[in-house]
Amino acid sequence: MTEQILILDFGAQYTQIIARRVRECKVYSTIVRFDLPAEEIAALKPKGLILSGGPASVYSPKAPLPDRAIFDLGVPILGICYGAQLMAHLLGGKVARGAKREFGKGTLLVIDASSPLFANLPDSLQVWNSHGDKLVAPPDGFKAAATSDNTEFAAIEDRDRKFFGLQFHPEVVHTPQGREIISNFVHGVCGCGKDWTMRHYIDQSVEGIKREVGRERVILGLSGGVDSSVAAALLHKAIGDQLTCIFVNNGLLRGREPQVVREVFGRHFRIKLQYEDASALFLRRLKGVIDPERKRKIIGKTFIQVFQAATKRAGAAKFLAQGTLYPDVIESVPIAGNPAALIKSHHNVGGLPKNMKFKLIEPLRCLFKDEVRLLGLELGLPNEIVMRQPFPGPGLAVRILGEVTPKRCEILRAADAIVVEEMKASGWYYRIWQSFAVLLPVRSVGVMGDERTYDFTVAIRAVESQDGMTADWVKLPYDLLERLSRRITNEVKGVNRVCFDISSKPPATIEWE
Ligand code: XMP
Repeated sequence: MTEQILILDFGAQYTQIIARRVRECKVYSTIVRFDLPAEEIAALKPKGLILSGGPASVYSPKAPLPDRAIFDLGVPILGICYGAQLMAHLLGGKVARGAKREFGKGTLLVIDASSPLFANLPDSLQVWNSHGDKLVAPPDGFKAAATSDNTEFAAIEDRDRKFFGLQFHPEVVHTPQGREIISNFVHGVCGCGKDWTMRHYIDQSVEGIKREVGRERVILGLSGGVDSSVAAALLHKAIGDQLTCIFVNNGLLRGREPQVVREVFGRHFRIKLQYEDASALFLRRLKGVIDPERKRKIIGKTFIQVFQAATKRAGAAKFLAQGTLYPDVIESVPIAGNPAALIKSHHNVGGLPKNMKFKLIEPLRCLFKDEVRLLGLELGLPNEIVMRQPFPGPGLAVRILGEVTPKRCEILRAADAIVVEEMKASGWYYRIWQSFAVLLPVRSVGVMGDERTYDFTVAIRAVESQDGMTADWVKLPYDLLERLSRRITNEVKGVNRVCFDISSKPPATIEWE
């Protein structure tokens, strides 16, 4: 059984980051609800527990509380922020209601150099605070390990029981040495090894997939995106020809997409690939449609029909594989003030009809996106696929405003290819969330040589984002923008004007639709 650290989620915005930081220490971590019974926790045999932060006050009548028996399991516990206050409160310490939130950078002074959490760290550290209540007296058995300008008890510990509490957030980047603190907890205190690597994951999950699938067949809808591509490579490693991938060309793909997918998966990996060219059907149904919601509906419905027909042609299969990731699986804690609870995956188009009689297999469901990328590289997928930016399911249809016609698709493909090429050549492509071209249904007057033109406008969008929920526009250098504009107007017939989108999300969205 893989060693693991369990993170009890009290509704913090940063819970997933804690889980990722632990995994970056090569230790597996999972997020569970704050009130998971201690018996169930014990059954998972964790090497340590982390109590996350959260928006509540320990004094609130609605404060989320853990099963108190977790403190009797004999397992090391690290409380972060609300988690630390909770631990202090439940074990007999004193937490004072804060008059105002302490928020932002602070300096931590380690007062006991022998504290295991601060091993190999300097006595003074920059840390990030974000809390309302304040710890004023630690419970019996605890003492202060570090102080800050604001509190004598910025870090507390009971070394005998291996309980630790931090008032600040070690998981965020604004606590530059937070990784070392987390590493000290998981390795130094909990005694975890460094087993969680993608190489190890491949061995484990290949075994697991083989066991689960047996001699049955598996179908996977391959989109060419990172998740389905990595899922395909992993499944193929486990079950070879028992896997059939279905790739649907909806006529709304980028320039070389169908070729790249066929080259990589068909020729290089020798994965059984069923290529369904339904582009004519999609474009026929989109003819004359302008409303963005209608476009999406038509594309979604047509995809399901095409995919369903394709699975019939692929022959009997028991399993349908999906590239679901861990963030889609984690149940967000419905605590007032928890922004994560409000975020819905509004673009989850993976909804295949319930009447498809498959068993689901989701080989990436415990991985974060950055781990999926590492896994892809480890499986030998090329950078071009593993590091690619997100591309929406409805494809170019959300980037062609107004009617989607074959001619407009062709124009946008040509402009988009230039954007991708120049972004890659300048190194910007891999640094940001997304960069692409949008075709606007506006014509304006221009001049080319001696001739007057009346052509379309292309907008360039480049955004920085963590998860697509909010985004900032990227300040691309002028010379790059200049090159993009010059190449697009020179090389793409039908475009005489290029604009750069300087809106963030909110209030704009990333795609224009
Ligand atoms: P918006 O435009 O809502 O996009 O700001 C947020 C992120 O989601 C992507 N996106 C989609 N992804 N199917 C997808 O798989 C869709 O229908 C879809 N629409 C938008 C978008 O590219 C951005 O990364």
